[in-house]
Amino acid sequence: MTRIVKPDERVAIELNVNGERERVSVEPSRFLCDVLRDDLGLTGLKVSCGVANCGACTVLLDGTPIYSCITLALDCEGRAVTTIEGLVRQTTAGGGELHPVQRAFVEHDALQCGFCTSGQILTMSALLEKNPAPSEDELRQALSGNLCRCGAYVKILQAGLALRVSSEQ
Ligand code: FES
Ligand code: FES
Repeated sequence: MTRIVKPDERVAIELNVNGERERVSVEPSRFLCDVLRDDLGLTGLKVSCGVANCGACTVLLDGTPIYSCITLALDCEGRAVTTIEGLVRQTTAGGGELHPVQRAFVEHDALQCGFCTSGQILTMSALLEKNPAPSEDELRQALSGNLCRCGAYVKILQAGLALRVSSEQ
């Protein structure tokens, strides 16, 4: 059933963020990036252009990369949101373990200022989840919506290619 909400009305919704249920109260016009950063303290995603041009705000919605700066929080109710914080795996010892894509970025020095990095990593992890052995062109294509103003593209690509090789072993 379609819900009618007034522009200034706040709506209580439940989001599934990194496997945790989070209850938030949002105006209909509130974007997901603001809820994640300001309400839930998940500041790993960055907001740069704010108009779907750069990819700094990328998160996964049901496993697919999206720009959270143009995605309404209301539209994410009941769907799985993954941020860069959610990629860190909990170990049985109670600590955290970096996701293989995070490790590859560290090993290949695939960042400079880091502003684009969470989006790059989430986009690459989504691609490798669906296609563990992408071609170089497929990697480039998948990452084409994530701009890096520092120009770390060569090393970002190297990180992705190294993961592809290890996935073929
Ligand atoms: S901040 Fe969302 S695409 Fe640039
Ligand atoms: S590392 Fe600075 S924008 Fe990509």
